Amino acid sequence: MHILILGGTTEARRLAERLAEQAPGLRVTNSLAGRVAAPRLPPGEVRVGGFGGAEGLAAWLRAHAVDALIDATHPFAGTISFNAARAAADAHVPLLALRRPGWVPVAGDDWREAGSLTEAAELLPALGSRVFLTTGRMGLAAFAALDAQWFLVRSVDAPEAPHPPRMEVLLDRGPFTLEGERELLRRHRVDVVVSKDSGGAATAPKLTAAREAGLPVVVVRRPPVPEGVPVVAEPAAAVRWITDRIGGR
Ligand SMILES: NC(=O)c1ccc[n+]([C@@H]2O[C@H](COP(=O)([O-])OP(=O)(O)OC[C@H]3O[C@@H](n4cnc5c(N)ncnc54)[C@H](OP(=O)(O)O)[C@@H]3O)[C@@H](O)[C@H]2O)c1
Repeated sequence: MHILILGGTTEARRLAERLAEQAPGLRVTNSLAGRVAAPRLPPGEVRVGGFGGAEGLAAWLRAHAVDALIDATHPFAGTISFNAARAAADAHVPLLALRRPGWVPVAGDDWREAGSLTEAAELLPALGSRVFLTTGRMGLAAFAALDAQWFLVRSVDAPEAPHPPRMEVLLDRGPFTLEGERELLRRHRVDVVVSKDSGGAATAPKLTAAREAGLPVVVVRRPPVPEGVPVVAEPAAAVRWITDRIGGR
């Protein structure tokens, strides 16, 4: 049985690790888009780069005799999730989405919802002048016109232009600690935080640190997901879904 995991997330890697332990006879291919220069690699085979749209992915599923497809991509990777749904239907391959739930505000949070990075940028002038921008290096163009704000941009790889004119780049990748996030906000005198609603524990401490400091957080809403695709939130549940299928063969 051959499983294709569309990855690029911690959950995708955890799933591959669990499958290597719990179902060692399974052939697992992990697919990465190739955005990160030195990604953390999961066990199993790894392929890198796009498939060429839904048609390309469907052709890949057929050519490599894939028995099940797991969309474990990031909640903000909207295109590939729709491609996965179309390709799985075309190639008659069962599809499961492994998607972590979004964050939920708690008492004391001062969150402002934005429908997109552009909307987030529009909200900023009214909220602060020293921005901790944690939305990743893609999409910085949305903030490029803001010259009254200073940005601390945290990303795995260095961003390219267009980007905000006044920025400092912090190259780092999660998980992050609460102590570290508190210190970062304090040292850089941050007065507003921008985050995607990525969910998960690895990058959540910035939200706690912002709450403690009484700072507003602009939270970018998730893009839509394809309808009719079963979803699980945890790698363990995805393993069960896969092993149930092995048992049924
Ligand atoms: N967006 C984020 O905030 C974010 C954050 C952390 C990690 N990531 C990871 O980074 C990758 C790219 O994200 P994105 O937002 O650029 O995605 P996207 O907008 O949904 O996808 C754009 C194109 O990139 C290719 N692609 C995306 N994920 C792929 C994968 N796992 N394997 C092979 N090709 C893939 C596909 O190209 P073709 O059409 O040619 O197949 C897709 O059409 C994803 O794997 C995602 O899990 C994204």
